Amino acid sequence: MSVDRLLDALRAGVGHANVLVDPDTRAPYEVDWTGRYRGTALAVVRPASTAEAATVLRACAAAGVAVVPQGGNTSLVGGSVPRGGEIVLSTRRLATIAPVEHTDAELIAGAGVTLEQVHDRARSLGWDMGVDLASRQSATIGGMVATNAGGQHVLRYGPMQHQVIGVEAVLADGAVVGRVPALHKDNTGYHWDAILSGSEGTLAVVTRVHLALVPALPERVVALCGVDDLDAALRVAGALRRDVDTLLALEVVFVDGLELVRAYAELPEPFPTPCTAYLVVECGGRIGSTERMVDALAAVLGARPEVRASAVASDAAGCARLRAYRELHTEAIAAEGIPHKLDVTLPFDRLAEFDREVRARIAAVSPTARTFVFGHAGDGNLHVNVLGPAADDSSIDDLVLGLAASMGGSISAEHGIGVAKRDALTLSRTATDIEAMRAVKRALDPRGILNPGVIFPPAP
Ligand code: MLT
Ligand code: ZN
Repeated sequence: MSVDRLLDALRAGVGHANVLVDPDTRAPYEVDWTGRYRGTALAVVRPASTAEAATVLRACAAAGVAVVPQGGNTSLVGGSVPRGGEIVLSTRRLATIAPVEHTDAELIAGAGVTLEQVHDRARSLGWDMGVDLASRQSATIGGMVATNAGGQHVLRYGPMQHQVIGVEAVLADGAVVGRVPALHKDNTGYHWDAILSGSEGTLAVVTRVHLALVPALPERVVALCGVDDLDAALRVAGALRRDVDTLLALEVVFVDGLELVRAYAELPEPFPTPCTAYLVVECGGRIGSTERMVDALAAVLGARPEVRASAVASDAAGCARLRAYRELHTEAIAAEGIPHKLDVTLPFDRLAEFDREVRARIAAVSPTARTFVFGHAGDGNLHVNVLGPAADDSSIDDLVLGLAASMGGSISAEHGIGVAKRDALTLSRTATDIEAMRAVKRALDPRGILNPGVIFPPAP
């Protein structure tokens, strides 16, 4: 099929206005959030229903043209932008959000519904969504399933996969699979939500998601606590995990990142004397639980010799102020340039050693590089962000990922593989694993239509 005939078929399927071919209208879909990954799309196509998405995939399959599924385009590993000549299938018009009959503890969200819209709807029903991310205004539910998104509350509720009751998705040939609304118990063979979780758009395009909500915890308490190093932060985090039953998040930042955030957002120094590392702790509870949460936090923080300084807030503005020292890291770093973003997990007993070692090794090979580390202390997940080396220079990436793997860690805690880490996949997965994953890919997408080049290195 010629390109013109493909575009005609796409226009017939989704309407003329939803096939974007003009370079200016395509442009925002062709570069990722970091600015590090970009490419040119043949067109951006915006279906508004599962049936329209199926039409798009059928047409692309018939033409043998690859498809890059894209939600809010918040991938940090180049997984959602074209690499050259693909159709970008934007899910943003799959934007319906609906209740589930007989319960208000669940929602059915189109793939293009943003996380913030789910939060708002859930909260209006007296419930909440178990996942939260700084990119909540843009990140979409379909993309979050496809990448098994994490965020700050994984400690309490697990990643995106744990919030999903069922999915509906379109395979590369346009066939629709899955079931929405789903049943809570349905052990009838393979589970599409599990298969597609972390598939990064390589196996199917998620179009609708049946989500489980969590009870609302309207009262929040946030603490910022300064310590001497990551070892100390982890010991305090361990005590908090043991003794505070309302924990939602246990995040860590370091003084250099905190200073960057302060300069970026004009925030005050949190304590009279700076500390080397800081824990940002969030607790959540039902109405009337604030005092108990404050007391529980104060009891642990007051008893730990590692704590050099601490501040606790229980009003919304105060909580937001303390959270900002952590949450603004991504934005503050991006404002300085295009970062190399390495998102790793380590066994807890090697985290502090990794942090020391990674900084030293980066400084040794790239003395002018600026390294910022922050992350989810409760999950053993550090985000190593390096500014300085050119965007296309992957030597720092190789160094950081190689070190994490050599210490028993994973090269991706929550951001996925995308194109950024595909050459390092063998560091975290065995050859047998990768071949089995390739077999799944071949079975569901034998012609390699969906998101080629993502997760797996291109075939030699
Ligand atoms: C975060 O934890 O803030 C996100 O994973 C984003 C990032 O790593 O920059
Ligand atoms: Zn993160």
